[in-house]
Amino acid sequence: MNVIAVDDKQEMSEKASAILFNEIKQNPELVLGVATGGTPTDTYDKLVEKVLAASLDLSKITTVNLDEYVGLAREHEESYWYYIYTHLYEPLGLSPDRALVPYGLSDDLQEECIRYEKSIEKVGGIDLQLLGVGRNGHIGFNEPGTPFESKTHLVELTDSTRQANARFFEHKEEVPTRAITVGISTIMKSRSILLLASGEEKAEPVNALLRGDVGEKWPVTVLNQHPSVTLVVTKDALEIEEDLDHDQ
Ligand code: F6R
Repeated sequence: MNVIAVDDKQEMSEKASAILFNEIKQNPELVLGVATGGTPTDTYDKLVEKVLAASLDLSKITTVNLDEYVGLAREHEESYWYYIYTHLYEPLGLSPDRALVPYGLSDDLQEECIRYEKSIEKVGGIDLQLLGVGRNGHIGFNEPGTPFESKTHLVELTDSTRQANARFFEHKEEVPTRAITVGISTIMKSRSILLLASGEEKAEPVNALLRGDVGEKWPVTVLNQHPSVTLVVTKDALEIEEDLDHDQ
């Protein structure tokens, strides 16, 4: 694993956006797996700045969202479709024709998971997967205990994940209880992975990963079995606080 330790989120976002920019420059038809949440927002903003400044054409890339809440319409401000649209496609003036996102309002969610997995295969799999990590170690919405061989599936979100994401909603009760997530085996098939972590609340999963552990208790540790991972991590996410409180 290539570990890049940086001072703060600003530097993390600068490094990550530069990596993404170069990858897209080298392969204008890149299939980019995209994470949502708080971690990569500035990374997308900086990527958009770089792309516009260089007049790079992103119209041929495909983005593959990692996950989507069940029960939110695409137009809902907290849906992950809306997130990637407003952070990437809209500021670049691109139509989201090549944005793959699970459909969280499907009448048949199991069928939707199968369809989504096939749609990733159809575009040739993910070239570069951008990942954040949950404080309980989840990647995508693969919560602790998810089998490593999992494909795209339906998940019940843990209380700690709903609590962590409550900051994006007015009330915690509004955080959906279920989501569709790309599975761990799908993530592991990506040709390379760029993992971002910032903030002391990520220190436990980051340290589990860096110890070289591999186990379902901390899903992120599966990345120790991937041949091409770059971790861009802030210093505070590397330091374990003695009294760090987490639940799963
Ligand atoms: C989001 C996702 C999640 C987040 C994780 C961290 O698409 O897949 O795994 O990366 O929950 O979230 P933040 O960045 O908000 O701390």
